[in-house]
Amino acid sequence: ARRQAGGPYPFWTFMLNIVILAAGMGKRMRSDLPKVLHALAGRPMLHHVLDSARQLDPARMVVVVGHGADQVRAACADQPDVHFALQQPPQGTGHAVKQAAPLLQESGSGDVTLVLYGDVPLVQPDTLRRLLQAASAGALAVLTEQLEDPTGYGRIVRDGQGRIRAIVEHKDASPDQLAIKEVNTGILAAPTARLKQWLERIGNDNAQKEYYLTDAISLAVADGVAVESAQPGAPWETLGVNSRAQQAELERTWQREQARRLLEAGVTLADPDRFDLRGTLSCGRDVYIDVGCVFEGKVELADGVRIGPYCVLRDVRLGEGARVEAFSHLDGAQAGTGARIGPYARLRPGARLGARSHVGNFVEIKNSSLGEDSKANHLAYVGDADVGARVNIGAGTITCNYDGVNKHRTVIEDDAFIGSDTQLVAPVRVGRGATLGAGTTLTRDAPADKLTLSRAKQVTVESWRRPAKKP
Ligand code: UD1
Ligand code: CA
Repeated sequence: ARRQAGGPYPFWTFMLNIVILAAGMGKRMRSDLPKVLHALAGRPMLHHVLDSARQLDPARMVVVVGHGADQVRAACADQPDVHFALQQPPQGTGHAVKQAAPLLQESGSGDVTLVLYGDVPLVQPDTLRRLLQAASAGALAVLTEQLEDPTGYGRIVRDGQGRIRAIVEHKDASPDQLAIKEVNTGILAAPTARLKQWLERIGNDNAQKEYYLTDAISLAVADGVAVESAQPGAPWETLGVNSRAQQAELERTWQREQARRLLEAGVTLADPDRFDLRGTLSCGRDVYIDVGCVFEGKVELADGVRIGPYCVLRDVRLGEGARVEAFSHLDGAQAGTGARIGPYARLRPGARLGARSHVGNFVEIKNSSLGEDSKANHLAYVGDADVGARVNIGAGTITCNYDGVNKHRTVIEDDAFIGSDTQLVAPVRVGRGATLGAGTTLTRDAPADKLTLSRAKQVTVESWRRPAKKP
């Protein structure tokens, strides 16, 4: 079936194929990991490209793999809509796309194939929609850009009427052509049936003895096919990564862009240059984020949330007005309205904190709920526990949830008071309103509303003398 790709432009109704080139070795990364699997904002560069590609609703996506093919395939194992073509050895971008040709879907003469690059991770769907729009009437469309320093890039050669006639690679360019500042970003969209024919005709009679995809442009001109161009929405969209230094630079560029979008949405960032988002962050009104925080996975912060400096939040949901103080680590956790967490708190997966609860310094909470208005303010481990409302957990309290083989639950009912330095040997239950004396090792259930304690009797040894040194 033909598909429609949405977006702010008029609908097009052709079948879209997307080919992503990822066969290069990435020698300058000096790494055992294939280049396209190196991370940007916490995810492989290739996954960023696949995400953007998917937003165009393609009929098929083909990744051309070569170096480290098995690793690249494995990294996409959970994305069944991704197909692979093997290019071995790499002999140029035209040769690469040719390997994908047998996998391209066709439904008629209006079909389009878009070529992207696994190491150009930040090209945005809006830019690609504009390029596809330029290609939608059967034209070949090239994404081009004006560069102050075009060194190394293929140059866009136009005629007197401004029509594109060819792309000439830097190494093959004449002095006149080298002066051209409009360059090929590498990304293009072409009519699928025509592209397949051009790929058969492209030769390797050039300075690098490679099959250049860019030779498709002069073949299109010779065939009387219009060649159009579009430009990226922002210059960073077409930046590629060839080295660790370029990776680090692009990471900062992207983090600044993400920070800019959050500022625009009304979030306060104490310093947009000291902000890292490696996933998605959605914020309500008047959220404040201090310096040095890292957000991973899916993080949702409601109105008025404040995050102190140097916190890590991964897959976290915080209710209105919740506060996280400095140096806290939250992973797979949620907290209700007005909760206070940290400084130096650790919430592990399955931590669920009620409204107005407090979790203070050096408190670890795992797979446990803490009810409304409950507190664990200092030095405690609460694991596999159901803690009710208005419970006070004293300093040094530990749920002994693990017997070396199995995990057991601890239940602490509403309004209980757990004295300092208590061990709750699970499975065990503390009844509603019960009080545990400091230092208790609780091995049996504590009844509601009563004081329960286990404690050796305190004695003073009258006859004792401190040993003294012999003279
Ligand atoms: C290419 C373009 C050039 C453009 C530049 C933009 C050609 C002939 N030239 O040049 O006009 O200005 O990109 O950066 O297309 N790849 C493969 N298999 C291959 C060769 C390359 O998968 O056989 C992949 C690489 O892994 C890389 C991408 O294609 O991701 C571009 O290859 P690269 O060799 O960097 O292209 P350039 O020579 O820089
Ligand atoms: Ca090359």
